[in-house]
Amino acid sequence: MATRRALLALGSRAAAVAMLPHASRSLLAQLLTPAAQSPPVRPDEMTANSAPQPERYPPPDFGPPPATLPAATAALRGANSLKEHARRSGLIAGAAVAAHDLQSDPALQQLVAEQYALLVPENELKWRALRPTSTTFDFTHSEALFAFAAQHAMQVRGHTLVWHNSVPDWLRKDAAQSNVRQLLIDHIRTVVSRYRGRVHSWDVVNEAIFPADGQPDGLRKSFWYETIGPDYIELAYRTAREADPHVKLSYNDYGVEYDSDENAARRASILALLERLRQKNVPLDAVGVQSHIKAGSPNSIGRGLTDYIQAIHAMGLEVYLTELDVNEDDIADDDVAHRDQAVAETYRQFLHIALASPAVKLMLTWGVSDRRTWLNDGPTHHRKQPNRPQRSLPFDAQYLPTPAYFAVRDCIDRRFKP
Ligand code: XIL
Repeated sequence: MATRRALLALGSRAAAVAMLPHASRSLLAQLLTPAAQSPPVRPDEMTANSAPQPERYPPPDFGPPPATLPAATAALRGANSLKEHARRSGLIAGAAVAAHDLQSDPALQQLVAEQYALLVPENELKWRALRPTSTTFDFTHSEALFAFAAQHAMQVRGHTLVWHNSVPDWLRKDAAQSNVRQLLIDHIRTVVSRYRGRVHSWDVVNEAIFPADGQPDGLRKSFWYETIGPDYIELAYRTAREADPHVKLSYNDYGVEYDSDENAARRASILALLERLRQKNVPLDAVGVQSHIKAGSPNSIGRGLTDYIQAIHAMGLEVYLTELDVNEDDIADDDVAHRDQAVAETYRQFLHIALASPAVKLMLTWGVSDRRTWLNDGPTHHRKQPNRPQRSLPFDAQYLPTPAYFAVRDCIDRRFKP
């Protein structure tokens, strides 16, 4: 904490990087690239949690990770694990993981393998990770995660083939002179074929809806929309289906969890999109509810989400909770126990509603432990407590289970029970 405050106070990215241990430097130098290509954060993106951060914060300094799992955590393996409780309730429990975190951390490897049945590469399958140039692919980091998953008999989700926030710089720069449509087809063919038969489901298109852009159909004026046109969506699904006839194909989006007018508008636009896809026989199997929720939100979670899940179910589609975490930036009280209670209670309120439908098949958190959560990356999710690392996930930075862990497991156990 103190180190991080000092780095922030220095106000200079270069000086902040220079003060860090050598191993962290190259990664940070990459992360701290100038914000030149980042668009300004728009108001609606506050719930999105997905805009590129105009500024990157250095990661909080928690010291080295524990060499082995704490006894209290080791006791949660096997029949006590999240994955086993989930399995008994008709769910697959999983988490997003970053290859560079996992590679250097045996305790984290053990934690992931013991608690989760499915792994999502947090960034490693996105365009910016896979595509150094228009003619090359770099699968180094995705391969590391697939190998880890295979070694531990875990499933993998593919995230994601089309996302406005992961367009490589070379592609933006050359867009006018390139055949972007063909590049998209080739990308999807190459990536989906490579992992054919090894992926539980692909988030083919991520976050295509953005009513604030003012389009009649609520479609986001993304790079893909502007270069290919609105049909980029069905093109992506049809290409993915050709490349893997059996993998589940999903559409993933945020901002659908609350009973707010803004979330209601987003739900309506997404359902309308799903209906248009259905009428055109576009292959689609599931819809992801990202589930980035907030402790202390003035909005409730209830009817809106229940009806949304029900409407998706009625279309014959499955529902996945794909990126669950609780942002606790709005909790002013610094007391850790109070914050943990608020976070656990927020997980409960959400899961009580979300798990009630049998259409929900996956329960995935966006990260494993508070040692690494994207919510600490920059100001978008961190406006009120910029110097306070978030306590958002089921395990804390020392890999001890938080009250959130037990809240999640309990909600899974009570699923379908009166
Ligand atoms: C985030 C990652 O967690 C960050 O490391 C990265 O810098 C930006 O993307 N919705 C999504 C995810 O669908 O892909 C995003 O992941 C979080 C919001």
